Amino acid sequence: MIRAGGAMTARSRGGRSPAFEVERIRQDFPVLGEKIRGKPLVYLDNAATSQKPHVVIDTIRQFLSTYNSNVHRGVHQLSERATEAYEQARTRVQGFINAAESREIIFVRGTTEAINLVAQSYGRTHIGTGDEIVISAMEHHSNIVPWQILCEQTGAVLRVVPINDDGEMLLDEYVTLLTPRTRLVAVAHVSNALGTINPVREVIRLARRQGVPVLVDGAQAVPHLKVDVRELDCDFYAFSGHKVFGPTGIGVLYGRARLLEAMPPYQGGGDMIKSVTFAKTVYNDLPFKFEAGTPHIGGVIGLGAALDYLDGVGLDRVTAYEDELLVHATEALSAIPGVRIIGTAKEKASVVSFVVDGVHAHDIGTVLDHEGIAIRAGHHCAMPVMQRFGVPATARASLAFYNTREEVDALVRGIHKVIEMFV
Ligand code: ALA
Repeated sequence: MIRAGGAMTARSRGGRSPAFEVERIRQDFPVLGEKIRGKPLVYLDNAATSQKPHVVIDTIRQFLSTYNSNVHRGVHQLSERATEAYEQARTRVQGFINAAESREIIFVRGTTEAINLVAQSYGRTHIGTGDEIVISAMEHHSNIVPWQILCEQTGAVLRVVPINDDGEMLLDEYVTLLTPRTRLVAVAHVSNALGTINPVREVIRLARRQGVPVLVDGAQAVPHLKVDVRELDCDFYAFSGHKVFGPTGIGVLYGRARLLEAMPPYQGGGDMIKSVTFAKTVYNDLPFKFEAGTPHIGGVIGLGAALDYLDGVGLDRVTAYEDELLVHATEALSAIPGVRIIGTAKEKASVVSFVVDGVHAHDIGTVLDHEGIAIRAGHHCAMPVMQRFGVPATARASLAFYNTREEVDALVRGIHKVIEMFV
C-alpha cells in the first residue's frame, strides 16, 4: 500500500527489494508461462481473479485422486481423511486472520454469499422499518445490492458515506451518518475499482462506540495486506478464495461467535442440523449451522494450501514489493499525456484504474489483449463509483506479487500504442 498519496515515499523509491525473488516466485505459477497470440502473458487482472500456484493445483488434484469423499458423514477412512483435511483448512483460515475460534470461520461460495448470509440472517432478525444501514460510495455491487434487498424486505434505509475526488471515504460525513437508528455498517477494506485502503479500524471504532456492528468486505484486502480480525475488532469479515490464489467457488465469512450463535440459519439442508422430525428441527452448532449441504471440499482444502503458500512468501514482503510496483505503475502511467488515474487515495493497494482521453476503456482492453496484456475494462461491478467520477468505465490494472516492473513497462508501451491508434 502507498502511504503518501501523490508524493512517493522514500521507502517506495528504493527500487525492487533485493530479498524478493520475483522470478523464482513466478515459477510457482504455471499460467504465467503461457503465451497469448504468441506474446508472453502479462497478467494484470488480479483483482478479478488471481493465478494459482502449483501447490494449490497439486493439493486439489491429490484430494480428488486419492481421498475424494464427503465430509462429516462417512465412517470410512476416506471420509475421515477428507474431514480431517477440511477441518484443518478451517483452523488454517482461523490462524490466517487471527480469529479467536475456528467455529467463527464459515465456508461459503465467496464474498458475495458471505454478505448475503449476513444480510438475510443477521439483517432479517436485527434490522427493521426505519432502521439504517451505512455503506460507502465506493462499494462493490455485492456490498450494495444485498442491503438494498434487505431494505425492500424490512423497510430499512440505506445511508451512503460520500467519497472525495481522490476516492477516499469522508470520515466526518460518516460520523454524521451514524445515528441512533444505525443498525449495521458495511464497508470495503480495499476498493476494487479505486484501490483505496479504507481506514476500517477507525470506521469500526466509531461504530462500536455506538454499539453498531461492522461487516468488512475484505475481498480485495486479503491478497495484499495482513488482516487480523481481532485487532480490527470487526464483527464480520468476508473474503473470496479465488482472489487469494485459491480456487473459485469458495470463500470465508468470519463472524464473532456471539453474533453467529444468535443468528438463524441462512439455508436449510444436510449437515446444518442436529436432529430433524416433521414436528421440529434442532440446528447444529457453529460453524455447521451455516454450512448446509455438501460443501466445496476440494475448494476448502485448496484454499488452505493457498494461505499456506502466501504465508510462506510472507505478506509483509508482498505488501512492500507491491508498494514499489504500484508507485512505478502510478508514475509511469501518469506521465503519459491524456492518461488520468481514477483513485488517488493516500493509502492504496496495488490497483490502478485509469482513463485515456478520447478512448473507451473497452478499446484499451482490446488493444492490450493483442499485446498479451490482460486488464479489466468496464465498471468493475461498482457503477456508483463510475457515476461519482463521471466516467462510463475505466481500464484497470491490478497487480499481484508475481508481477514485475517489466510487465508494468509493457503496459505503458501498450497504452502508447492505444493512443497512437485512437487519438
Ligand atoms: N470483483 C471482481 C473485480 O473487481 C470481479 O474484478
